[in-house]
Amino acid sequence: MTKKIVTLAGDGIGPEIMAAGLEVLAAVAPKIKFDYTVEAKHFGGAAIDAAGHPLPEKTLTAAKAADAILLAAIGGPQYNDAAIRPEQGLLALRQELGLFANIRPVQIFEALKHLSPLKPEIIEGVDFVVVRELTGGIYFGEHTLKERSARDVNDYSYEEIERIIKIAFEMARGRGKKVTSVDKQNVLATSKLWRIVADDVAKSYPDVILEHALVDSLAMKMITNPSDFDVIVTENLFGDILSDESSVLPGTLGVMPSASHSDNGPSLYEPIHGSAPDIAGLGIANPISMILSVAMMLRESFNETAGAQYIENAVNKTLLEGVLTKDLGGTASLSEMTAAIIANL
Ligand code: NAD
Ligand code: IPM
Ligand code: MN
Repeated sequence: MTKKIVTLAGDGIGPEIMAAGLEVLAAVAPKIKFDYTVEAKHFGGAAIDAAGHPLPEKTLTAAKAADAILLAAIGGPQYNDAAIRPEQGLLALRQELGLFANIRPVQIFEALKHLSPLKPEIIEGVDFVVVRELTGGIYFGEHTLKERSARDVNDYSYEEIERIIKIAFEMARGRGKKVTSVDKQNVLATSKLWRIVADDVAKSYPDVILEHALVDSLAMKMITNPSDFDVIVTENLFGDILSDESSVLPGTLGVMPSASHSDNGPSLYEPIHGSAPDIAGLGIANPISMILSVAMMLRESFNETAGAQYIENAVNKTLLEGVLTKDLGGTASLSEMTAAIIANL
């Protein structure tokens, strides 16, 4: 059956890396007999320009009816004073689709080991995943900005915490059987509840080890002992910060994909980084984060394991050949990198 993929290219480098991701998808599809259509929709700043709103009704309707959604990136300095910012469109989309489980894998390609700013012995064996709660917490609490005071509310219910912790345990079962639950239990009430729920859920997974960590020391250990981790689960804001920090291990945000899942609707796949306004339009962005998001889509939404593997192998081979974009210290352009990956499929 033909699969309907809705694409949201967005802003900055978004359209460039989306085109690269779709080129790779088009190249791999015949090899795995994957039949699909692409419906491109306005989103983010581009949608503010075209339709006056970062998440137009037509975009939301199409996203809800899709089999999967690919998103590149949104945002940019030109929208900083917009009545509704592009980022609000992204948060609304996540909330409307119920995308509470954001999966951000951290793996280091063989070819990138010598490019990491960390010592080879530190990054040896790094293979973990950050499971970030995506539709709750301080992101979705009340925000009040007054002239001389401001307030953001951080709310979590038992059920919201329970469902994301369960996802982490299920993932750990299929991997290294260890969950690191990250909180700030020494200060925050939401974190105290988080820890109680994690302990409760752990009772149903006796085969998986649960460890608790405070977010400040975890931020340090992620860099000094990154191979200690298997599944890291945490609330929305901590997950945002820790996942960008984890990109230091491979050496660039430009290779970091993600998947966001709901209970029953379409999943969304996007790089973890933003629209990179500093390099937008220069043709030098690294498309690998988008290309690996396409691989995650094939595997997780369409069960096309072989297709995902073809893409991941081609990316690895291309990097081993020394084809590197500027963020990795190389000189390859976005289109040279994309062409090399396609040639290696
Ligand atoms: P950013 O992630 O866009 O960029 C941070 C740094 O990483 C920049 O130097 C950029 O050039 C580099 N970088 C990011 N992706 C790269 C790639 N594929 N190849 C090479 N280099 C890459 O973060 P920022 O500059 O703080 O934010 C810019 C805008 O993006 C803001 O408006 C922010 O809100 C938005 N944002 C959007 C998303 C999203 O769409 N999901 C995620 C994060 C930030
Ligand atoms: C991300 C981004 C978003 C977030 C922003 C753009 C709202 O940083 O996807 O990590 O904070 O979730
Ligand atoms: Mn982020």
